[in-house]
Amino acid sequence: MSDLAKHLIDRLPKAELHLHIEGTLEPDMMLKLAKRNNVTLPYHSVEDVQKAYNFDCLQDFLDLYYLGMSVLLTEQDFFDLTWAYLCRVKEDGLTHVELFFDPQAHTARGVSFETVLGGITSALEQAQKELDISSKLIMCFLRHLPEEDAFEALDCACKHKEHIFGVGLDSSEKGYPPPLFERVFAQARKEGFTPVAHVGEEGTAENVREGLDVLKIERVDHGNHALDDPFLTARLAKQQTPLTMCPISNWRLKGIPSLAHSPVKKAMDAGLLVTVNSDDPSYFGGYLNDNYRAVHEHLALDEAELIILAKNSFKASFLDDEEKQKQLDAIDAMVDDVKRL
Ligand code: ADE
Ligand code: ZN
Repeated sequence: MSDLAKHLIDRLPKAELHLHIEGTLEPDMMLKLAKRNNVTLPYHSVEDVQKAYNFDCLQDFLDLYYLGMSVLLTEQDFFDLTWAYLCRVKEDGLTHVELFFDPQAHTARGVSFETVLGGITSALEQAQKELDISSKLIMCFLRHLPEEDAFEALDCACKHKEHIFGVGLDSSEKGYPPPLFERVFAQARKEGFTPVAHVGEEGTAENVREGLDVLKIERVDHGNHALDDPFLTARLAKQQTPLTMCPISNWRLKGIPSLAHSPVKKAMDAGLLVTVNSDDPSYFGGYLNDNYRAVHEHLALDEAELIILAKNSFKASFLDDEEKQKQLDAIDAMVDDVKRL
């Protein structure tokens, strides 16, 4: 890797737009919280946990992801989890994050919505003050659970609109297409939440189309399989609907056979507004900058394309125009600095 590429990846201001906070639970924190909360896990060491991180598909990962989060019980646990992630990505030059959380996975275990939200939002507020990282929170509905449960989560979210910006849709994509959630998304939009959804990760281009047309999503999470359909690709390019792609996640979940098969470059070349993100960095072994390094090395993205990706991360964000411009100006200033090195 050239020195210029290395410095750009290390130092460019970036936003992360596809990040599940529960997917940042590192094995050492999992074991520490299990001990603190008297939760029994089938693992006794960090190595035991790491050995389990070997996935054949999305569902394989989700089984472990839901097991891992069973150690999260108190507001302090959610604070610690979120704060650890924010401190980690401060080192990657991250200045803005739009993060997902999965309240139904916690309320189903008897942890209150307010416990989850309280811990996450305290950490986000502290990050704004102490780390100069801004944020927006997106509450995901779990698509393997019934619509009725999603409506319950939405009721809870409506009591905390000041802390929750958007709604998303995640968990198992196969067998749970977007129309199952048409009504709850319609209600969420009416309540003022901005809609996004995981579509086209393991599912087809049809799921992406339904995300856009039925759920009226404003950003596509993953969207890899949109590229299977030239008409949909052209539509996404024309509308400049952002895609939050996650190369290391796709590789670790065997959606692609190697990082060289990541669709990031193909999507950029097709004129799409592509961003690069980490998804569940602890489980997939790569934080934000590892994903930038992966696309640089395996797709031969050049320095100019790395700068485009960093700029896209803000263009595709839900920041207002003035905040976006500030971040884009900061990128230009950093590029000048790095080129002088
Ligand atoms: N929940 C956490 N990570 C996810 C992913 N990559 N796809 C669907 N649901 C998820
Ligand atoms: Zn995801």
